[in-house]
Amino acid sequence: MQAHPNHGRRAVSRHLPFGEKRDTRFYGQHILSVAQFDRMDLETLFEVGEEMWAMVERVGSFDLLRGKVLTNLFYEPSTRTSSSFAAAIERLGGSLIQINNVTFSSVAKGESLPDTIRTLESYSDAIVLRHPQKGSAATAARYARKPIINAGDGPGEHPTQALLDLFTIREELGRIDGLTVTMLGDLRYGRTVHSLAQLLALYDVRLNYVSPDALRMPAELVERLAGLGVPQAEFRELEAVLGETDVLYVTRVQRERFDDPADYQAVHGSYTITPETMGAAPERMVLMHPFPRVSEIAIEVDEDPRAAYFRQMEYGMYVRMALLALVLGKA
Ligand code: NCD
Repeated sequence: MQAHPNHGRRAVSRHLPFGEKRDTRFYGQHILSVAQFDRMDLETLFEVGEEMWAMVERVGSFDLLRGKVLTNLFYEPSTRTSSSFAAAIERLGGSLIQINNVTFSSVAKGESLPDTIRTLESYSDAIVLRHPQKGSAATAARYARKPIINAGDGPGEHPTQALLDLFTIREELGRIDGLTVTMLGDLRYGRTVHSLAQLLALYDVRLNYVSPDALRMPAELVERLAGLGVPQAEFRELEAVLGETDVLYVTRVQRERFDDPADYQAVHGSYTITPETMGAAPERMVLMHPFPRVSEIAIEVDEDPRAAYFRQMEYGMYVRMALLALVLGKA
């Protein structure tokens, strides 16, 4: 198999226009939904993201956000989102309050979300929030004076994941317009695909949704994107669309969102990407997954140059560095 031409590509080093210029589309804003962004915003963010990448390669960390304090408030498990925000603020010279085990905070005593938010914003400059309830980030934002960054509100949205997913596609394939993106797995409860599909709707793309019947993309979202003129099609089998796919975005069945374990058992393990699947896939396809993976991608696939999920994680740190810099007014 041929090596992917863009794999291992690194952002070019150039003069970094870091300063005090404040981008009013980001500065001081809550980041709650991808609906708040247009293509210009994304270009700005991605350019700053590439600058962050170059700076990390050159110096590792630097003092752009020195004196700023970020709170990571996580009511649900997280490895990548939480630690990449932690790495992002540290590499920018700021510091972190990490609350990821709410059983050891006053939440366990019955403290409400607004009270917890009002407390933590007294100590920090922005709050990254992950919470099991859809709409929780918006609720927090109603009470907060400091920016709230939605890091996943139940089955709702995961905007910063979609931003890094889009950055990944752009870095791996060099463009977004003209691509066919196939989303596979739990499209019903998977918040990453809810955000990503909406963000991709800003571009000239075709979207394929492959899922078991019980886990289809929410009809409301499909209708909304159809209203915007986005070509979308739904399938049960990946084979139907694999050959035309530029980006295959695989997701985990969200076990924690099922009321009845039997319903989970009935659909989990519906799809597994194997070396055989990759053998039938286009040579320049990019394979993505937000992780954690359970059984959706066989580990043998990791060696395939088209498997972009570990690079996707790294891009996530640069994008979150860019977002923090823009929101806190220093990019
Ligand atoms: C995802 C999430 O939390 O929504 N993980 C992540 O942030 N990278 C995906 C998942 O949990 O399946």
